[in-house]
Amino acid sequence: MSITESSPTAAGSGASASDAFRASQERRGVAGTPPERVATVVSAVLKGVHDAIKEHDVTYPEFQAAKGWLMEVGDGGEWPLFMDVFVEHVVEEVVAKKQQGTKGTIEGPYYLPDQVKLGSTCKLPRRDDEKGTPLVLSGQVRDVDGTPLPGAEVDIWHADSDGYYSGFAPDIPDGNLRGVVVTDDEGRFEINTVEAAPYQIPTDGPTGKLIEAAGWHPWRPAHLHIMVRADGHRTITTQLYFAGGDWLDSDVAEATKPELVLDPKDDGQGGKREEYDFELEPV
Ligand code: DHB
Ligand code: FE
Repeated sequence: MSITESSPTAAGSGASASDAFRASQERRGVAGTPPERVATVVSAVLKGVHDAIKEHDVTYPEFQAAKGWLMEVGDGGEWPLFMDVFVEHVVEEVVAKKQQGTKGTIEGPYYLPDQVKLGSTCKLPRRDDEKGTPLVLSGQVRDVDGTPLPGAEVDIWHADSDGYYSGFAPDIPDGNLRGVVVTDDEGRFEINTVEAAPYQIPTDGPTGKLIEAAGWHPWRPAHLHIMVRADGHRTITTQLYFAGGDWLDSDVAEATKPELVLDPKDDGQGGKREEYDFELEPV
């Protein structure tokens, strides 16, 4: 991927991700936590840090470097990016142990609510010259007992063919490649979009610098984000990936699952098609 002048800067996407997070705290259920719980969890986190320091004989210069880096993450507004790349997948894994139905995975920092509502067979909003291989994703939303769920919402958002998200990168119109698709009376949907490219964590900010300093890579495999909502059912937040794609086996966010990998077929007209059904558990 070439870095052009209109590439989003880490500070730009970090600040937007921080704003989006602040606006979404209610939806995310951010709430007060009882003192005993704070003490238990924070003690365990600190113990992990203390143990790492002892195990690896961390020096004063290293400790001061860590302090400076933490300050930069805050100043650059990169905490949502950092937390969603390096921590969210474990929270999701813990929660998923008690869930039935379609596998979920991390939400990441780039969801935006209240996108345009679209009929069950639809084309996601895009630029006139949107690049990328056409992709049609169709399927059905059902209860885990197999009952179709008409009027369910398939809220989809994904990066463009350069790996950038609308709302977080300059020069992409608001709402691009985002939409809330409402299923038909059989719970079905058919979404016309374009293939997303792999996503790269901004390399010019503190998270990118850490990744470089550690000799890791900053990539996530190409993915579609999907949140499926239906009355009386648990909302599923998930992502769909593409077989054979780069970084599928080494996602920096560790958020891939074998059940979420699609293998779209050529449609004979230069595009691709795939089916994927969602099963939601009742609440
Ligand atoms: C991040 C970006 C994503 O697109 C995603 O799906 C998960 C995490 C991030 O930069 O933190
Ligand atoms: Fe993403």
